[in-house]
Amino acid sequence: MTVDDLTVAFGHGRNRLVAVDRVSLGVPHGAALGVVGESGSGKSTLGRAIAGLVAPAGGEIRLDGRLLPPRRSRSDLRRIQLAFQNAGGSLSPRMPVARILGDAVAAAGVPRERRRDRVDELLEAVQLPTTLRDALPGRLSGGQRQRVALARALASEPEFLICDEVTSALDVSARGAMLNLLIRLRRQYGWGLIFISHDIAAVRQVSDDIAVMYLGRTLELGPGEAVVAAPRHPYTRTLIEAIPVLGEAPAGPPDDVDPPDPRHPPTGCPFHTRCPLRPRAEPAGARCVTDEPTPITRGLPHHAACHFPPPLERT
Ligand SMILES: Nc1ncnc2c1ncn2[C@@H]1O[C@H](COP(=O)(O)OP(=O)(O)OP(=O)(O)O)[C@@H](O)[C@H]1O
Ligand SMILES: [Mg+2]
Repeated sequence: MTVDDLTVAFGHGRNRLVAVDRVSLGVPHGAALGVVGESGSGKSTLGRAIAGLVAPAGGEIRLDGRLLPPRRSRSDLRRIQLAFQNAGGSLSPRMPVARILGDAVAAAGVPRERRRDRVDELLEAVQLPTTLRDALPGRLSGGQRQRVALARALASEPEFLICDEVTSALDVSARGAMLNLLIRLRRQYGWGLIFISHDIAAVRQVSDDIAVMYLGRTLELGPGEAVVAAPRHPYTRTLIEAIPVLGEAPAGPPDDVDPPDPRHPPTGCPFHTRCPLRPRAEPAGARCVTDEPTPITRGLPHHAACHFPPPLERT
């Protein structure tokens, strides 16, 4: 999967909001890319655009080298599946699990006589007992509901899976189990995966590469290990410092500046108003306010869209 210069905008005129701004990234066959960033940074919109659920204003998305048109065919839609945030809300409360999955299996073109077995296979794949076939979503735990949503996404045998905050609503043990399940399934099915979460620690566990988003832009892109151990963008550093450490008070927000209005993002570097390096206070930092750092293109080893990145560390 490759994405080049992808832009998604909502609204018009003064209300135009660029939710995804010239994003480029690549996910090799069977690899996992993590996408992190605060609320409103454009993670879900990026995932929805790649899945073909929202039409981009510009840029290119390719799967296996083939350009995917803004209006996708049904078969292209099936190839890339999205398992999303708050699965409880996306499952119809009056439909038992077997019907929810049965409908997805039918939509994937499985003949009637094979559907029951296929539903059982899907339940088994996500490690749910088949005794839950008749259960209504309301009777399931958060972790079980999230697994049903994942099983539904698997029904069409996708080549590529996008998981949007699938672990965010879960408690610590259910989250760990879900992350392990994803890691195992990815090995088993060999899909490419995009794992979206505001939780950089969870992202690190499942991803090969990590992309860091802020106000629609990718500020950093590189191998997960390097991004977490030696972040090159000050924004990434603030995200890592905010990871709670057991027994310690979590670090507060990076500063007391109000988050910027996404309809009117700051000039220059979008992060300059909150940057803890405060290079803008130095004469050389004037360009943080006036010049946008070059947007990240794909294929670079570890890049940060910052005028003052630390030198690349050898790992
Ligand atoms: N359908 C829409 N119409 C107008 N604006 C939208 C729409 N969907 C998203 N936005 C805006 O686009 C920006 C990015 O939203 P998005 O949901 O992609 O962020 P996110 O990173 O997924 O946030 P969260 O962590 O809260 O899920 C936000 O400013 C949001 O308000
Ligand atoms: Mg989101």
